[in-house]
Amino acid sequence: MIQFSCQNASPFINEAEVTMLAEQVQLAHTMLEKRNGPGNDYLGWVDLPVKYDKSEFARIRKAAAQIRKTCDVFVCVGIGGSYLGAKAAIDALSNHFSAAMTKTKRNAPLVVFAGHQISPAYLAELMELIEGKNVCVNVISKSGTTTEPAIAFRVLKAYVEDRYGKEEAKKRIFVTTDKARGALKTLSDQEGYETFVVPDDVGGRYSVLTAVGLLPIAVAGIDIREMMSGAKAAREAFRKPSMADNAAYRYAAVRTALYRKGYSTEVLVNYEPSGHYLTEWWKQLYGESEGKDQKGIFPAGVDNTTDLHSMGQYIQDGRRNLFETVIWFEKARRNFVIPSDEANLDGLNFLAGKDMHEVNYKAMQGTVLAHIDGGVPNLAITVDEMTAYTFGELVYFFERACAVSGYMNAINPFDQPGVEAYKKNMFALLGKPGYEKEKEALESRLS
Ligand code: PA5
Repeated sequence: MIQFSCQNASPFINEAEVTMLAEQVQLAHTMLEKRNGPGNDYLGWVDLPVKYDKSEFARIRKAAAQIRKTCDVFVCVGIGGSYLGAKAAIDALSNHFSAAMTKTKRNAPLVVFAGHQISPAYLAELMELIEGKNVCVNVISKSGTTTEPAIAFRVLKAYVEDRYGKEEAKKRIFVTTDKARGALKTLSDQEGYETFVVPDDVGGRYSVLTAVGLLPIAVAGIDIREMMSGAKAAREAFRKPSMADNAAYRYAAVRTALYRKGYSTEVLVNYEPSGHYLTEWWKQLYGESEGKDQKGIFPAGVDNTTDLHSMGQYIQDGRRNLFETVIWFEKARRNFVIPSDEANLDGLNFLAGKDMHEVNYKAMQGTVLAHIDGGVPNLAITVDEMTAYTFGELVYFFERACAVSGYMNAINPFDQPGVEAYKKNMFALLGKPGYEKEKEALESRLS
């Protein structure tokens, strides 16, 4: 089970500053359990690990098995919460070089992502990549109207239909969207695509354990039953009301105490490159949930030790408004022993016989101590090993802590009103019908 320690924050906040928040944690806990806080229409994730549609889950596994058999490339089209969870899980649990492997070696289709930006070069090169390969597509959008995935899907749909014909395209296109509403739902009903549901009460960034994340994750060959079991165990552990028994609540309380003391940026730190997108998923979860009403901790991330040679300088020595949360996996997925060299010209024989995980561990410990000396409070999240099970645990741990932190900061952690501002301007500038007035106003500002 996930362990949390705030021992290395003690030079910066005292115990009382955290324990005094127990009442607020309790209040947030009650709002989640009684479902009477802001955004309570979006609390489906709270019980998702035990209350999910079992027949849909079976359908996801069946579709994934079929796709794994027939496809070389599985293109997932989505953005934000409709993309990051799957990307995080697949990267965390796959070989670093799986993209360069054959399907047989990888034992799964290559899972690639589209529609998470508007880069023409990306889409053109993706189309080149899939040419001549056996392709399936999963378009994922809760609203069914998001522009970025809609553009990519328009192109991919036309490609699949052109290449395989309309009838065969129906077997190769999978849609994950709202059960009743939206352009994508209408389209898939009309075309007869197999559809999976994003539950009404689960928001995008809390949806990795629904079909949104589970279908691509299962296609990549990751055991989604294990992932749900991990999330289920975490639900048990992290719904305990008392902060003393609940690591997620302690994490929420400590980061809130630090925020109130002026530490307004949290840097999530990992020591495995495969954790990069777990950090991206976490950034979305916390950024979109907490950053509102001119408040909120700014979530940032670094991949160490790589970033110690870039951002490390700032963290050690820059403006002192940062705290770090280090995720450490006790067991490395693979290990490597550093060889001895008779000539020792590089002077590295002091490391000979040590395994790289141990060296990585010492780098982590040394960095934490250096950063504390530099004025950076450090929080620690320790996990046995990155597996499908612990990935499920981490998802639930972070979701629960995020909701509690948001309530403690008196915001609605489940909406994202700020995301609309850019969309309105983009539509106006592109001449979408209905945005004529805004277009004129924006163009005069740009001229
Ligand atoms: O968390 C959220 O709600 C957002 O990040 C959405 O996931 C993102 O905007 C994509 O939305 P949709 O799934 O409706 O296309």
